[in-house]
Amino acid sequence: MSFSILGTGHAAPEYILSNEELSTMVDTSDEWIRTRTGIHNRRVTTHETTTELCVSASEQALDEAGITAKELDLIICATMKGMYITPSQACVIQKELGASCPAFDVNAACSGFIYAMDVADGFFVRGKIKHALIVAFDNLSNMTDWTDRSTCVLFGDGGGAVVLGEGDGLKSIYLTASGNTDVLYAPRGELTSPFDKHEGEKPVLHMVGQEVYKFAVTNMVRGVRRVVKDAGLEQSQIDHMIPHQANIRIIEAAAAKLDIPHENYVINIGEYGNTSAGCIPIALDEVNKAGRLKKGDYIGMCAFGAGLTTGSCVIQWTK
Ligand code: UT7
Repeated sequence: MSFSILGTGHAAPEYILSNEELSTMVDTSDEWIRTRTGIHNRRVTTHETTTELCVSASEQALDEAGITAKELDLIICATMKGMYITPSQACVIQKELGASCPAFDVNAACSGFIYAMDVADGFFVRGKIKHALIVAFDNLSNMTDWTDRSTCVLFGDGGGAVVLGEGDGLKSIYLTASGNTDVLYAPRGELTSPFDKHEGEKPVLHMVGQEVYKFAVTNMVRGVRRVVKDAGLEQSQIDHMIPHQANIRIIEAAAAKLDIPHENYVINIGEYGNTSAGCIPIALDEVNKAGRLKKGDYIGMCAFGAGLTTGSCVIQWTK
């Protein structure tokens, strides 16, 4: 037996950074950003911490699941950069929640939420756990070069959480990685050793946008086709398709090659931008809280990101 989703939550910083405000910071315009990406606003951290937001999302998910943190058997946090290099963000969340289970991070960039669910699936299948918390959060505003208009307009901060319990909600899941440090990467940053002869680089995101764009469309189509087939379904049976929210044009280009009804796509890029691992769980929580998920609905998810990684899955809503 694997897992079903018992509860969801999400959190994002209060401050809304608009395209208009960005246009006063770099040579860009609302028109360029909207038409090339679909983004209008994004949230950026001012007074909040990554931990506070992760804990808020987790508490919502625990509340809905009707369990306490003490009943968790596993916490996985999908993030590229927690509050500390060590301990893991998952351990920091565990401390704040008052849980006492194993906890660790998974770094698969924007695909992190789906990678973390596949890892959790293994714990359920081996009968080792009854409840798991997955938190997927990235604080990209602190990994962004705010003078680079080709990247700083794309990203925002935020993330979400799910509580998983034993069940058969997970129908199929598929991960890929093809190692690449050229088209999408952020260096670690400063070196502290006086012996190390390498130059420390600024820890900001670098991206060859068009290469990532092509990779994204091809692999979104491939991943969704595969997991829908593995789940024994037709694409037309996917009730809610939640794609990674990197660019509305990527979603539309992939959607044009798939047979999922267009009205079933969950899109919130306009208000959040690309929050990396946070995109899918934020969107999932929004459709859940809006009351749009009905028992038996099939939810497709598909993400791609640095690595280059991809993750796709089909989950049946069983609540
Ligand atoms: O989570 C996964 C990570 N990221 C992604 O998935 C992003 C994938 N890539 C993309 O979404 C798109 O490639 C971008 C949105 C990044 C760029 O869109 P594009 O249509 O591929 O534009 P481009 O890179 O071909 O640039 C077109 C023009 C260039 O000017 P010239 O050379 O034609 O004069 C850029 O300098 O747009 C210019 N440009 C901008 N202009 C105004 C690039 N960024 C901006 C900007 N404002 N912010």
